[in-house]
Amino acid sequence: MPHDADGTLLAVDNLKAWYAESQALHGVNFKVKKGELVTLIGRNGAGKSTTLRSIMGIVRNRQGSIKFEGQELIGLRTFQIARKGIAWCPEERGIFSDLSVRENLTLPPHLIEGGMTDDELMEAFPNLKARASSGGTQLSGGEQQMLAIARILRNGCKFLLLDEPSEGLAPVIVKEIGNQIRQLKARGYTILLVEQNLNFARAVADRHVVIEHGQVVDQLTNEELAANVDRVKTYLGV
Ligand SMILES: Nc1ncnc2c1ncn2[C@@H]1O[C@H](COP(=O)(O)OP(=O)(O)O)[C@@H](O)[C@H]1O
Ligand SMILES: [Mg+2]
Repeated sequence: MPHDADGTLLAVDNLKAWYAESQALHGVNFKVKKGELVTLIGRNGAGKSTTLRSIMGIVRNRQGSIKFEGQELIGLRTFQIARKGIAWCPEERGIFSDLSVRENLTLPPHLIEGGMTDDELMEAFPNLKARASSGGTQLSGGEQQMLAIARILRNGCKFLLLDEPSEGLAPVIVKEIGNQIRQLKARGYTILLVEQNLNFARAVADRHVVIEHGQVVDQLTNEELAANVDRVKTYLGV
């Protein structure tokens, strides 16, 4: 059977990862189908960011299998993984404060054709349009987050890894970013989103993968989550 007969875009199988001697992932298993929006949820230190960094090849000491469109990513370097159409927005956002919004947007190298044009980006993120010539330091946390997401869309990627976009932001901004992420899904992007904010996760996702101590301990559709909120809150320690 071809790898994508059931629509699988990403298949993570028995993924283990280490920081020096310290093992952070102990055999992570999950799949993401084309067009899906899946969250990785779990408490601090569970291994969510490490999973994204392992997919991206930022954490290089890893074992097991990460297949994207049926092709193994383990063994590839980050730039090779990026060229396959995977883009990563890190937890720390990485906005250059000395540069303007426009400079931040255009700084990353253009790796793949077919990304969103500047006009499309400004339409999708109107706050950035208003702030185009503002410096990075003048941006609010929400604007920085939008810029960090917009920046990865200039390349023609199809799979987005978003690490806690709601972190530290006011509820009204979180809602706005939720709407923008839903629009990206409607544009056809497949998205793997790390979240600890359950309300945000529920508002955007099709499915949830729960990580605890470097392993997947549960998986729920968004409907199942609605019926099991208490159980999932226990995982999150809230
Ligand atoms: N750069 C690093 N060096 C050493 N250990 C790390 C590093 N980053 C994360 N860890 C450890 O790996 C584990 C998983 O961390 P992480 O993936 O960041 O968790 P999460 O994103 O779920 O909060 C934790 O025990 C954390 O302390
Ligand atoms: Mg994290």
